[in-house]
Amino acid sequence: MATRKKYIAGNWKMNKLTAEAVSLAEEIVEGAKEAKCKVMIAPPFVALSEVKKIVKGTNVILGAQNMANEKSGAHTGEVSIDMLKDVGVSVVIIGHSERRILYGETDALINSKILLAIKEKMNVIFCVGETLEEREAGKAFEVVTNQVINGLKDVTEKELSFVTIAYEPVWAIGTGKTATEKDADDVHKIIRELLEKLYSKELAQKMVIQYGGSVKPENAGALLAMENIDGALVGGASLKAEQFLAIINSVK
Ligand code: PGA
Repeated sequence: MATRKKYIAGNWKMNKLTAEAVSLAEEIVEGAKEAKCKVMIAPPFVALSEVKKIVKGTNVILGAQNMANEKSGAHTGEVSIDMLKDVGVSVVIIGHSERRILYGETDALINSKILLAIKEKMNVIFCVGETLEEREAGKAFEVVTNQVINGLKDVTEKELSFVTIAYEPVWAIGTGKTATEKDADDVHKIIRELLEKLYSKELAQKMVIQYGGSVKPENAGALLAMENIDGALVGGASLKAEQFLAIINSVK
């Protein structure tokens, strides 16, 4: 079985003014020096340049929370991939449920962003996950399967080396409710089996699949011990260095 390096990412969402972002990044860089996993932080766009100065030359990767699906031009309010590269971003979160639900991002839009990112050699964390309503209707596997198929449309096996998948059940995000390790692992397994069907066994074994949704120091160890859970996309707990570092340090 392939050994997959664990990957812990912090999604700061719409939090932290620049000075606060800089000091949080400083604490994380300091505390993550001996990390046994890959570590990424995704501050708000306007703090990226300053945070880049802190993470440069360290083992902490700089991420963005979104990007436009077009390269440049008349797209008021959008941020392009070249702008992200220009400030030192090497990975972008695409298809987060808040983008899907609050800002109407469709599978087709998400797919176009993923294709653009890959074409431009930008790494991607591609988010999928069902709502509570969908889970209660017994549709979790179906919804996630469709999101993966549609989001990765026209992405080749080779290109998938740029992609990490994050399974984030919407009902567990910011709510304090976490999926049980078993429930989460079951969906991760479905995703891995789907990748095997769509691509190959080798690819499916290599794919890093993060879990996200109320990951905290208290539950990180148990989640990360599951066979198919290869990391975490952390929201709330990534805003406090102590908590985020405890999650990172739960990777032995
Ligand atoms: P949460 O957010 O850890 O605050 O639940 C996770 C996410 O939305 O990526």
